[in-house]
Amino acid sequence: MPEVSDLKRIGNDRVTAIGMGTWGIGGKERPDYSHDRESVEALRHGLELGINLIDTAEFYGAGHSEELVGEAIKGFEREELFIISKVWPNHFGHSEAKKAARASVKRLGTYIDLYLLHWPVDDFRKIEETLHALEELVDEGLIRHIGVSNFNLELLKRSQEAMKKYEIVANEVKYSLRDRWPETSGLLDYMKREGMALIAYTPLEKGSLARNTCLAGIGRKYGKTAAQVALNYLIWEKNVVAIPKAGRKEHIEENFGAMGWRLSREDREKARGCV
Ligand SMILES: NC(=O)c1ccc[n+]([C@@H]2O[C@H](COP(=O)([O-])OP(=O)(O)OC[C@H]3O[C@@H](n4cnc5c(N)ncnc54)[C@H](OP(=O)(O)O)[C@@H]3O)[C@@H](O)[C@H]2O)c1
Repeated sequence: MPEVSDLKRIGNDRVTAIGMGTWGIGGKERPDYSHDRESVEALRHGLELGINLIDTAEFYGAGHSEELVGEAIKGFEREELFIISKVWPNHFGHSEAKKAARASVKRLGTYIDLYLLHWPVDDFRKIEETLHALEELVDEGLIRHIGVSNFNLELLKRSQEAMKKYEIVANEVKYSLRDRWPETSGLLDYMKREGMALIAYTPLEKGSLARNTCLAGIGRKYGKTAAQVALNYLIWEKNVVAIPKAGRKEHIEENFGAMGWRLSREDREKARGCV
């Protein structure tokens, strides 16, 4: 894999500032086998460019996304990759979470670098029990790091306190130029202080930010597109990585080009006014 200089830290690992999302790859709520070849090729293209971060979940395509990720990474140096997967709330609880992780590892054909609780549930005891199960999974070598997803600041702090042995290294949340709630809620600042990675999902607002002419105008000066400006806005922050999903190779290449440069502070401010 070629080396990319725009790297961020998750735990003690280095990941590229732009990763690859997989929602819809291999199906949504159900498996869909009709685009398997293109999906694997798109992921492999990103890996060949040097992107080392892939985000998937047991929920995506009811497990088929994980199978396609497993297929895509074949032949790449495993230690250079960083694979995120997630346990769905119906598998929260001690034995259920451990069973779900084992099934994900089997579908992926490899260990998981970062395993996330996909969504919070009302009963905090369930969250706590699941976090403790994940600590055991680290000791058993199935997963390397523990994280959460869609947790607000209060729930994140509570979860941190519940940990016995390992730390929560990341929180994956919706974050885009159009939806800046991690900035306004104090979540981003808190996570920065704690040295925790914020993984920004739906960073292109399903592709709509790529069509924003105002962002395209800002990008012109840098020789960059609207999509690249929208992604660069996010990774500008030290602890933020963004995981756009792109099924098309040209989109993967474009998103890759969001790395290796930075918007000026002034243009970043202007970008906020574009949406
Ligand atoms: N933790 C969670 O609860 C959670 C929730 C939602 C999403 N996620 C993760 O975050 C990932 C990304 O979020 P998302 O899929 O919701 O939305 P997104 O990345 O904002 O948007 C994906 C859409 O944008 C298009 N696109 C990608 N790059 C583009 C470009 N350069 N120019 C124009 N269009 C482009 C894609 O088209 P093509 O496919 O045709 O290239 C796709 O239709 C997911 O895949 C998933 O891994 C996590």
